[in-house]
Amino acid sequence: MAEAPILVTGGAGFIGSNLVDALLARGYHVRVLDNLSTGKRSNLPQDARVELIVGDVADADCVHRAVDGCRAVVHLAAVASVQASVEDPLGTHRANLIGTLNVCEGMRAAGVRRVVFASSAAVYGNNGEGEAIGEDLPKAPLTPYAADKLASEHYLDFYRRQHGLEPVVFRFFNIYGPRQDPSSPYSGVISIFTERAQKSLPISVFGDGEQTRDFLYVGDLVEVLVQALEAPQVEQGAVNVGLARATSLNQLLQAIGAVLGQLPAISHLPARAGDIRHSRADNSRLLSRYRLPEPPTDIREGLARLLGK
Ligand code: NAD
Ligand code: UD1
Repeated sequence: MAEAPILVTGGAGFIGSNLVDALLARGYHVRVLDNLSTGKRSNLPQDARVELIVGDVADADCVHRAVDGCRAVVHLAAVASVQASVEDPLGTHRANLIGTLNVCEGMRAAGVRRVVFASSAAVYGNNGEGEAIGEDLPKAPLTPYAADKLASEHYLDFYRRQHGLEPVVFRFFNIYGPRQDPSSPYSGVISIFTERAQKSLPISVFGDGEQTRDFLYVGDLVEVLVQALEAPQVEQGAVNVGLARATSLNQLLQAIGAVLGQLPAISHLPARAGDIRHSRADNSRLLSRYRLPEPPTDIREGLARLLGK
C-alpha cells in the first residue's frame, strides 16, 4: 500500500508549494487540495508522490474525500489578502472560516489528529504597536480576514478538547520568497516591490512608508512547519512565527535598491483602510519549541536569494 500522504490545503500557493518541496525532500507523499484561485498547477513539481485535488475547502464533501487516508494536515488554503476580505467579507469567510470547519469535521470523521494551521499576526490588530507582540496580548481583529483567522483558532481548540485533534496554530507574520504572486495590488508587498523594481516600473507606497513589518523568508518558515508535523507531542497555545525584527517599507526599498543597484520612481498614496501600522513578533515561544535555521535568513540575504543575486 502507498504511504499515507500529508494533506496540504492551499498547496499550490506560495507557502504551500514551498512546503510541498520541503516535504518531498524528506521523503513524504503529499496530497494537495487547492481551488487554484491564487495557486497554480505549475507551482507543483512533476512528481509521482504529489497528488493534486482541484476543489474548494468550502465544499464539505470534497474536504472529506481529501482528508480520508491522510496521516496529517497542513491547512493553508485561504484568501490570503487582508484587503480582499475588506471588499468581500462573505466570499472570503467561506474559504477562511467554513473551510477550517470543514477540515476539522473531515479530520474527526477520518480519525486524523495532527493539523498545522496558518493563522496570522493580523489577529492582534494594532495591539502592542511599537513593541514586540507576545501571543498573550489581547486580540483585536480589525478585518474580516483577522476575525476569521481568530475564529478558526477557537474552533481548532474546540476540536482539540472535544475530539482529540492535535492542532498546531501558527500566527505567521509577513512571509516572503519565491512563488509569492505579485499579480494583484493586494499581493504581498515584497513580491510587488521586487517585481516592479526589476522591471523599472514605478512603486506606490501606501502612507509614509514608515509602517513596519516583521518579514520572514519562506524557506525558514517551512522548516518550522515540518518540525510541527513531526513533533511527538503538541503543546497548547498559538505560536508567533516571525524573526522579531521590524523593517519599515522605506528600509525595505533601500534594501531592494542595494541588491539591484537601482530603484524606480516611488510615489506615496493614502494609507489603506484597516492597515496595521507596526507589526513585530515576540518569537520567544517559537524559539523555545522549534528551531529556525541558524542564522535565520535576514532581509538582505532573503532579497538577494529572491532576486537571484
Ligand atoms: P496564496 O494565495 O499563495 O495561497 C493560498 C492558497 O489557497 C492558494 O493556492 C489558493 O489557490 C488556495 N485557496 C484559496 N481559497 C481556496 C479555497 N476556497 N479552496 C481551496 N483552495 C483555496 O497565499 P499564501 O501567502 O501562500 O498563504 C497561505 C496561508 O498562509 C493562508 O492561510 C494565509 O492566510 C496565511 N498567511 C500568509 C501570510 C503571508 O505573509 N504570506 C501571513 C500570515 C498568514
Ligand atoms: C500580510 C499578509 C497576510 C498576513 C499578514 C500577517 C499577504 C498578501 N498578506 O498582510 O496574509 O495575515 O501579513 O502579518 O501576504 N503596501 C504598499 N504598497 C503596495 C503593497 C503594499 O505600500 O504596493 C503596504 C501596505 O499598505 C502595508 C504593507 O505594505 O502597509 C504590507 O502590506 P501586505 O504585504 O499586503 O501585508 P499585510 O497587510 O501586512
